Amino acid sequence: MKMLEIKGGKPLSGTIRISGAKNSVVALIPAAVLSSEEVTICNVPNITDTEALCEILEFLNVDVKRATESLVINSSNMQNKEIPSMYTKKLRASYYFMGALLGKYKKVTMALPGGCSIGARPINLHLKGFEALGAKVTNNDNIYTVEAKELKGTNIYLDFASVGATINIMLAAVLAKGTTIIDNAAKEPEIVNVATLLNNMGAKIRGAGTSSIEIVGVEKLGKCFHEVIPDRIEAGTYVILGAAIGNNLKISNIIPEHIEALTSKLEEMGVFLDIGADYIIVSSGNNYNPINVKTQTYPGFATDLQQPLTPLLTMCNGKSKIEETIYENRFMHIPYLNQMGADIRVKNQNSTIIGPTKLIGTDVVATDLRAGAALVIAGLMAKGTTKITNVEHILRGYENIVEKLIDVGASLELKEI
Ligand code: EPU
Repeated sequence: MKMLEIKGGKPLSGTIRISGAKNSVVALIPAAVLSSEEVTICNVPNITDTEALCEILEFLNVDVKRATESLVINSSNMQNKEIPSMYTKKLRASYYFMGALLGKYKKVTMALPGGCSIGARPINLHLKGFEALGAKVTNNDNIYTVEAKELKGTNIYLDFASVGATINIMLAAVLAKGTTIIDNAAKEPEIVNVATLLNNMGAKIRGAGTSSIEIVGVEKLGKCFHEVIPDRIEAGTYVILGAAIGNNLKISNIIPEHIEALTSKLEEMGVFLDIGADYIIVSSGNNYNPINVKTQTYPGFATDLQQPLTPLLTMCNGKSKIEETIYENRFMHIPYLNQMGADIRVKNQNSTIIGPTKLIGTDVVATDLRAGAALVIAGLMAKGTTKITNVEHILRGYENIVEKLIDVGASLELKEI
């Protein structure tokens, strides 16, 4: 087990370079096996979620070569085997092997995916999509088998614009016969990134990034070279940190448009941001205004940023509110922030942050990935020492977080306990 010990209260300056997006790469890796030739993906973040997916590739006899920041995936000797829970439970995104293997072999058997405990997180929309394409789904003791004689393109309307279901249906449909249209599709940048990879491999996908995606099935997919987009959630996390304790902190290698919902809320608070073509420079201010935030699908305010935003809102003069509309249970960081001196009340899907309050270091637990990011920000803001346990959650999604923060002047250490 790992513990992160943070000595807080130090201003941060310098540059933090943002890595490739976790929520893109976790779909790009399974998508690559749809090709019968070599696929090279660059700007791959070195996080434990990437490692977990590479383990699944190796289990399926896929040849994976890892160089600094890139992955070369060759699935010409791949074997379609049942993927057991020891592999799938490590992360939510293991479910992208469902769409990819179904698309490639017309059959997949795998255990339920894992991931952060932030609510029920069913996969009914994914399965409904596979069924609409002509597949039969059976579930035996949480081992799913999805198979079809033939996958046929069709019109699929998603009851909710789910990121996972949109990507999984695209993966299953690229090699299907005929045309598939996904309506009420999710519009997140990661979906565009996956569609671009598939198109580079020879797929015919139009409309990714809008709510209607058209996929014209092709016979086979080939070789390609592809780049992972910058991680907008990692970028947002560090911009928030800069608004709390930055002194000209530069967040570089980003697409600022991807975090516009965050930056406009920060500007409403009174944070001054210097937004360039691929960077943001941010410094901490005082006299921040309270704000109201409601999480929504893209381009709305990302649910993945509401937890990291919360400690910053303790600096505002007055009551800020956060309404979480995507997940049922994404307030597990709040009791720990309150132990650190915050005054935050949670009722149903809403939290009210009453500020300003000062944070003081104490012992806390990262219950999930973004709760962990919130506690890292709180620990860096706080006076004294914060010890965060269950750090493994954080390492699933933030590449070299300790090194990146030390480089800009933070005092923290990852310890084995
Ligand atoms: N939902 C259903 N049925 C489904 C699919 C989703 O009811 O079949 C519900 C979920 O229970 C949830 C909501 O729809 O309440 C949103 O789910 P969505 O499918 O959009 O999310 P996801 O694909 O499971 C991805 C990211 C999440 C991020 C969300 C929303 C990955 C691996 N995960 O999850 O990232 O919060 O989109 O943007 O891409 C994180 O990085 O910390 C994280 C949780």
